[in-house]
Amino acid sequence: MPNRVAFITGASSGIGYAAALAFAREGTHVAVIARRAERLEQLEQAITNLPEPHGEILTLSADVRDGEAVKAAVDVAVTRFGRLDIVVANAGVGHRGALVDAAQEDVDTLLRTNIDGVLNAIRAAVPAIRNTGGGHVILISSVTANMPAPYMALYAASKAFVSSLAVSLRGELEGDNIWVTDMRVGRTLTEFNEKRLGKSGRTRMLGPSYMPVERVADAIVRASHRRQRTVTLRLIDRLTLIANNLVPNLIARVVRSQYK
Ligand SMILES: NC(=O)c1ccc[n+]([C@@H]2O[C@H](COP(=O)([O-])OP(=O)(O)OC[C@H]3O[C@@H](n4cnc5c(N)ncnc54)[C@H](OP(=O)(O)O)[C@@H]3O)[C@@H](O)[C@H]2O)c1
Repeated sequence: MPNRVAFITGASSGIGYAAALAFAREGTHVAVIARRAERLEQLEQAITNLPEPHGEILTLSADVRDGEAVKAAVDVAVTRFGRLDIVVANAGVGHRGALVDAAQEDVDTLLRTNIDGVLNAIRAAVPAIRNTGGGHVILISSVTANMPAPYMALYAASKAFVSSLAVSLRGELEGDNIWVTDMRVGRTLTEFNEKRLGKSGRTRMLGPSYMPVERVADAIVRASHRRQRTVTLRLIDRLTLIANNLVPNLIARVVRSQYK
């Protein structure tokens, strides 16, 4: 069997970086994109230093908001590795603050990254995965997709878009032997909160603690070997979602107190 090949967006830090390492560790070749080339070089070094055998890495500097650039990156990946099996649409940004007061620039950045960026990755990668004869689309959503709350309107709605997309897309692609997994990630220790758009400052730490990024990365690799529709990793996150269905005002009050 030839090595599988995964295309990952947003691999210069956090979940994407850890997922690229985890895929390479199991022997999957990875083609990764992000804007910070120097961070991608660090990832390349980390993968090169893995014990043999490991997957190879191709790093490409690209912005997910630019559909042509994402398509070009997929083409380079297919030329280099000869196939594409998996796409992980991971790149994303957060936003904190009242919707009406949000800076237009932040609104644009969030929607273009979290929505257009995911669409660009899917639309560029799926034709190549079809040519391979099948594979996997993994969308990195969030528990907030099912738990919209005050002062996270933009972010939660963008992740609801991603999770909704997963359902439709699964039906469209199953005839091509391409599976779609919606990863509803809970709080994870990455740079995400420091880089969040909108209101600055750390939120008060209420609710579940932060997961180590490796736990999410391992779950992404595991999902690529299975036919899971939705993955919500931790029991505490699943329980919070159930609680939100039963007493939505309670969760909204907690979030409001943290995010306002
Ligand atoms: N951390 C959490 O608690 C958490 C929880 C639920 C879901 N998630 C989701 O997990 C995903 C990854 O986030 P993370 O926690 O790993 O945060 P992170 O460490 O900030 O990583 C975000 C990645 O996205 C890339 N990115 C951002 N804008 C981009 C653009 N325009 N073009 C290309 N790449 C771009 C960044 O690279 P460059 O800046 O170098 O371009 C970086 O590699 C996001 O979709 C996020 O919504 C995170």
